[in-house]
Amino acid sequence: MILLPSCSREHPLALAADRSVRDRCGTYCRRRQYAECAAFSALLARHDVAVTLTLIASVAQNGVIGRSGDLAWRDRDDLQRVKHMTLGRVLVMGRRTFDSIGRPLPGRRTIVVTRQKDWAPDGVTVVRSIDGALAAAGDGEVICFGGGELYAQLIDRADRLEITEIESVLDGDVYVPPIDPSRWSEAERARREGYSWVTYTTH
Ligand SMILES: NC(=O)c1ccc[n+]([C@@H]2O[C@H](COP(=O)([O-])OP(=O)(O)OC[C@H]3O[C@@H](n4cnc5c(N)ncnc54)[C@H](OP(=O)(O)O)[C@@H]3O)[C@@H](O)[C@H]2O)c1
Repeated sequence: MILLPSCSREHPLALAADRSVRDRCGTYCRRRQYAECAAFSALLARHDVAVTLTLIASVAQNGVIGRSGDLAWRDRDDLQRVKHMTLGRVLVMGRRTFDSIGRPLPGRRTIVVTRQKDWAPDGVTVVRSIDGALAAAGDGEVICFGGGELYAQLIDRADRLEITEIESVLDGDVYVPPIDPSRWSEAERARREGYSWVTYTTH
């Protein structure tokens, strides 16, 4: 990673080696407005900063994932699996999911998307848009950690889905969109008592 003098360590454009990009992004860096930099996506695409996006969710038969600001379902083994899949990685989540967890998860970098200007808890990277989140994540594997709003906006941009398919209908108020079979194929399925761990990849 190349660090620019005026960049924060998290500035994704610090990944770009090209001088013209460094000059251009310096404008945004100096003003510390990189999270809202409209040029992020284009610049990242041009310089092949590869982000692999994996979406992780535990989903009831009726699409429910959450209830009253909390998970709609909990299973110890499932939570362990989620921990195993996410340790050392970058998590992107919506502000409501962060609030439901209440703190950054240890051993993972947390990027939270919010429209609130003055929301800035310790230990997280705060961004104001989905593109800002992906840009701030930089190169490598990024995990979309929920909740419903984030899943809805990112599912079409994901490369892989890690879904815990719960074999029951649950009460709830937050849903994920259905998995579109024209885009996704089942790559792996591990059956458990009352649910399955299913990996989907794009065709
Ligand atoms: N079962 C699972 O696997 C799972 C996983 C994660 C979460 N959950 C559950 O899902 C629920 C939370 O989901 P949710 O849909 O209510 O909320 P969410 O997706 O976690 O967060 C929504 C918030 O994110 C911010 N946001 C969303 N899109 C944005 C955008 N394009 N630009 C800027 N900010 C944006 C807004 O924050 P501001 O309001 O601050 O502007 C918005 O209110 C909880 O019940 C949680 O327990 C379940």
